[in-house]
Amino acid sequence: MFLKNHWYIAGFREEITEKPLRRLILGEPVVFFRTKDGRAVAFEDRCIHRQVPLSMGSICEDGTLACLYHGIRYDTDGKVTFIPEQTRIPRGAKVRTYKVVEKGYWLWIFGGAPEDANEADIPAYRWFERPGWTAKRRRLHVNCNYKLIVDNLLNMAHLPYVHPRTIGSEGVVKDAVVKITQSDTGVRLARKMYDIEPPPTYKKAGGFEGNVNRWQTIDWMAPSSFEFHTGVVETGHEPPPPEYDVPKINARILDRHAMHSIAPESEKSSNYYVAFSYDPEEYTEELADFLIKQMIDTFEEDVVLLEAQQDNMDLCNNPDELDIVSDGAGLQAMKMLRAMEAAAAGA
Ligand code: FES
Ligand SMILES: [Fe+2]
Repeated sequence: MFLKNHWYIAGFREEITEKPLRRLILGEPVVFFRTKDGRAVAFEDRCIHRQVPLSMGSICEDGTLACLYHGIRYDTDGKVTFIPEQTRIPRGAKVRTYKVVEKGYWLWIFGGAPEDANEADIPAYRWFERPGWTAKRRRLHVNCNYKLIVDNLLNMAHLPYVHPRTIGSEGVVKDAVVKITQSDTGVRLARKMYDIEPPPTYKKAGGFEGNVNRWQTIDWMAPSSFEFHTGVVETGHEPPPPEYDVPKINARILDRHAMHSIAPESEKSSNYYVAFSYDPEEYTEELADFLIKQMIDTFEEDVVLLEAQQDNMDLCNNPDELDIVSDGAGLQAMKMLRAMEAAAAGA
């Protein structure tokens, strides 16, 4: 089941144009387009007449969206304004609409009834709103349930095995100092690893020659968004706190601020948005390009595993699983999601 009464990324803002765009969100087809006055709007992608996708239609001169099949037109509130061969518009003839908001680099959609939407609940990506900072961002498509991605991002024990070419090294799982804290809205997994060899991504990007102290602070915001504050610093220096204004450290350091957000598409497929934000005065364009490429290369390794995992789960249809210590944060997240699902089902 999906948690409808939450905000999910629908796409990049620049994807929304006057040309209707279809995307599956929470198992529902949605059509997005930009109105003549520049607003992004979203309707159920299903004509109320004979269910043809409205995304196959086009925007008329008067700003209405016309269905391709028999030409019924919808205004930007989703109300029918024109039906061929008749003058009477049935009362209440309207397509379902969604609340959407453009925030940061993304268009966010609220999966529930528009009147229940509260913009203040859109996951806050503090670093993306930082003046002067910019970001690199991508979308990946994964054929798995969104919860498998949440579980993947909350268990760092897979790094040495899946990502030895980029962010994985043995030091990640050796003597890490781990702290898990839960709040009303999510789980924080904070890990610190002292005096370890830097993994390949950091060696190449930061030019570290000796050992480093490494940190990973992962804030999961239910149901499917994350802020990641990760990096390495020369040994002898404490990893910086994840808070907004970190004092500059007088040492060689690579400090990374990223977001990950998953928009469930169906029970077995997801759109996965990744981005990292940076201060262009600290990162060269070349370094930023290198780091986003490493992020994508890394996650493509996860995609192979996640899709095989989903296939195997479908095939075996056996819920028995052994939990291990590194599952701690993921287990808390899954427990929270189950409670949210139960509350939604009972509402
Ligand atoms: S299906 Fe859309 S107008 Fe007939
Ligand atoms: Fe991974």
